[in-house]
Amino acid sequence: MTVALMIAPRQPDPRAPMRSAAELLQEARAQEGAARIPDAIACYERAIAAADRAGEPGVLAEALRRLAVLRYQRSEPVVARALCRRSHSVATEARNDVLAAEALNTLGVLDLKVCSLPDARQNFLRALELGGQSRQLRARVEQNLGILANIQGDFDEALVRYRRSLEAYHASNDEQGCAIAYNNLGMASADHRRFDEAEGYFRQSYELAERLGDARLQGLCLVNHAEVHVARGRYEDARSNAEAALALFDRFDVRHDKTEAYRLLGVVYRETGRSVLAESRLQSAIELARNAGSLLGEAEATRELALLYQMTGRNQEALTLLHVAHRLFGRLDARADLVYVDGKRAELEATYLAVVREWAQSIESSDTYTFGHCERVARYSVAVAQALGMDEHAQTTIRLGAYLHDVGKVKVPHEILNKPGPLTRDEFEVVRMHPIWGIELLAAVEFPWDLKAIIRWHHEKHDGTGYPDRLRGDEIPLSAQVVGIVDVYDALTSTRSYRPALSHARALAEMKRCRGWWSAAVYEAFLESLAQPLASEGRAPVKEALLERRSASTSRPSRSPQAQGSRRSRRRAGGSTSTPHGS
Ligand SMILES: [Fe+2]
Repeated sequence: MTVALMIAPRQPDPRAPMRSAAELLQEARAQEGAARIPDAIACYERAIAAADRAGEPGVLAEALRRLAVLRYQRSEPVVARALCRRSHSVATEARNDVLAAEALNTLGVLDLKVCSLPDARQNFLRALELGGQSRQLRARVEQNLGILANIQGDFDEALVRYRRSLEAYHASNDEQGCAIAYNNLGMASADHRRFDEAEGYFRQSYELAERLGDARLQGLCLVNHAEVHVARGRYEDARSNAEAALALFDRFDVRHDKTEAYRLLGVVYRETGRSVLAESRLQSAIELARNAGSLLGEAEATRELALLYQMTGRNQEALTLLHVAHRLFGRLDARADLVYVDGKRAELEATYLAVVREWAQSIESSDTYTFGHCERVARYSVAVAQALGMDEHAQTTIRLGAYLHDVGKVKVPHEILNKPGPLTRDEFEVVRMHPIWGIELLAAVEFPWDLKAIIRWHHEKHDGTGYPDRLRGDEIPLSAQVVGIVDVYDALTSTRSYRPALSHARALAEMKRCRGWWSAAVYEAFLESLAQPLASEGRAPVKEALLERRSASTSRPSRSPQAQGSRRSRRRAGGSTSTPHGS
């Protein structure tokens, strides 16, 4: 028989002498420093009660604010904010500007965590105004303003703020603060791809953190340094750093930090071909992020998993996950600053494009005669969409739809696709099934864009003689008409197994003969687009140019500056640790 042991929560000894609020606050800080978080929380609560009883507003304001930080770290943001507001009002009533500014700084950090960037900026600037005479406080507020600038993609301001912060920490002999500032300067340098400088800063930060016994900051440094190792292709170093960081984070209950470590481990295993381990680590990262309520963390880990699925040929699952990530970014939208969200969205759409494009290329590589067809159709179709004045969303729809328009051909037998000579009636009927097969193949996959209309109806004709549904006129979605006309032009001007390529002029003459297949607007826009230089001839859209520079580090497209800034900002020490470390 098993005897269950019940351990009662530790109660204060009633025989112990009554301790002052200040002593309790000091003990709570010691507990927190030693990573005994539940004990630290209990002790802060006792300090608050004692300070309330004794009428000591200074101790009360500080204990409230420090408890707010720990409550936030334990995923209790509402409680944290209420504690922080109370700290501010206690300090204001007591006319203690520095403590009131401290509370504003912590409130700004909480705003930053939920991406309320204007509120965060306002709170930081008010804190600087009110408590700037304190070098230590100034150091931390400058640091947080640096983080904010970074999130908004203003890297120059970020560097200025971080350097000011470092100077203020040095001037006040605050080694802990210096350690945080070095970490942030490391991240800013990494953003500028100055990797040697970044690594130097991370080493300085880590050494200081180790000497000070700040395990969490050590962990953050290791994770951030690991990201640089990944960027430099040093996967073993990255893995070792991330594992060491996880061991340190295990001493705390900080799920968000662990999310980042697991995500990086997943990326390392993916890039080194260990897909089973990669999937396990990325799933853990997603689960941790979800439990911690980190939409951004969940979205980013989900995107990395999508890239893993793509690399292992699980394309439909990859697209499904990308849609999940897209929805997560959409939920973030309501709470976030526009620049920030735009950057994230551009990053995700570039990933979508890369996944869809590579899948399309892998499919057509089995057909010797159509290799490169999807790429050309995508480029010309976007040019036609631009000539028609279609917006960005519609252009992205057309680009992605063009890549996937013939996805159903995977079900057409190879000998029919590559048959040297005309197809029989039966064979042609098989080929005509490919729009339907494409839809069936993607039945379980949702997209943020209406790609299925292009896949199903790119062979419909304006005069009603197309297939599979014999749509007529405006029944055919404009996106499908655009891809359809470019598809015909590219087919005519390419060598096929059954005939040589036609010249540009002969292809146009042939299309003129079949003029009834397209609406006047689409036909005119097509002719107009042919007169323009193509993307490959010097006017490549930004997103496409970015795609060409896939980073060896993460196997995903390069990101916009905003996206880089926002992604990295989450592990800057200041945003997450300024209050516990610097107060
Ligand atoms: Fe087709």
